[in-house]
Amino acid sequence: MSIKAVDEFAEDVIRTRKKELVSLLLNNNSGGGVTETDHTKKQRSDLLTVFMGLKDENGEAFSDKIVGARSSSDHDRRSHVNNDIINDDDDDTVVFKPEEIKKMDYLQAALSEALRLYPSVPLDHKEVVEDDIFPDGTILKKGTKVIYAIYSMGRTEAIWGKDCRDYKPERWLRSSDGRFMSEPAYKFTAFNGGPRLCLGKDFAYYQMKFVAASIIYRYHVKVVEHHPVEPKLALTMYMKHGLKVTLQRRDHADRQKLINSIGD
Ligand code: HEM
Repeated sequence: MSIKAVDEFAEDVIRTRKKELVSLLLNNNSGGGVTETDHTKKQRSDLLTVFMGLKDENGEAFSDKIVGARSSSDHDRRSHVNNDIINDDDDDTVVFKPEEIKKMDYLQAALSEALRLYPSVPLDHKEVVEDDIFPDGTILKKGTKVIYAIYSMGRTEAIWGKDCRDYKPERWLRSSDGRFMSEPAYKFTAFNGGPRLCLGKDFAYYQMKFVAASIIYRYHVKVVEHHPVEPKLALTMYMKHGLKVTLQRRDHADRQKLINSIGD
């Protein structure tokens, strides 16, 4: 992914979440005497450090994904930004633009569905800081540990319906126009909810979609038959045996076919 695109994305996140970020970062870094401009620069660099450091959840989420895409014309997509790519084939220099990534609704649905069934953080726990009462009347005393199982919530019939164990990206798409429909954070809890909602959620989707689209555009990806797929529980969920796939390079005609079909 180009650093410029990441940089622009970080600025966008800072603009929309400025208030939260200012308090978060100022609480942690009480460096005096900095100007507003210095702050914005520092926030951007702090944010990028967090982005790059917290790659675990993205990496784990990404390994389970199945991809589909929707995008605009091939013509605008061509951009020779990465000098490291040395290839005569012009197709190889294709870099998806942020506005194109945003339009990839099916891919967003496929990733959300994978995270529903295989959340990167399978169990999360909180501690009650003041006596409280849940809406259902459950009394919570200060100091109580509350554990919620994101993994189990994604597989609960009462929440997701009878087909809760099936992988169905379509459940995230509006039947009228096929656009992505988000679910409330308290139903789809892979990114937590409320004031502690994952700050990197938008970036995580952007990064996963960018990488998935870039691979799928270039290769047919096929999971190796009979490869055992088992979760390995840790703070974040891993694949016990990794994910073995074969990659078959798409030829020019195949890429064109893909490009022409994904705008439909
Ligand atoms: C698929 C990828 C990701 C998933 C599933 C995920 C999930 C989560 C979850 C469940 C939490 C809540 C933890 C808690 O307080 O109990 C969280 C918090 C957080 N995440 Fe993510 N995350 C992902 C990617 C990222 C990325 C890429 C970043 C940084 C760019 C990020 C930054 C953060 C931060 C800063 C918090 C703490 C928010 C707060 O406590 O106020 N996450 N994430």
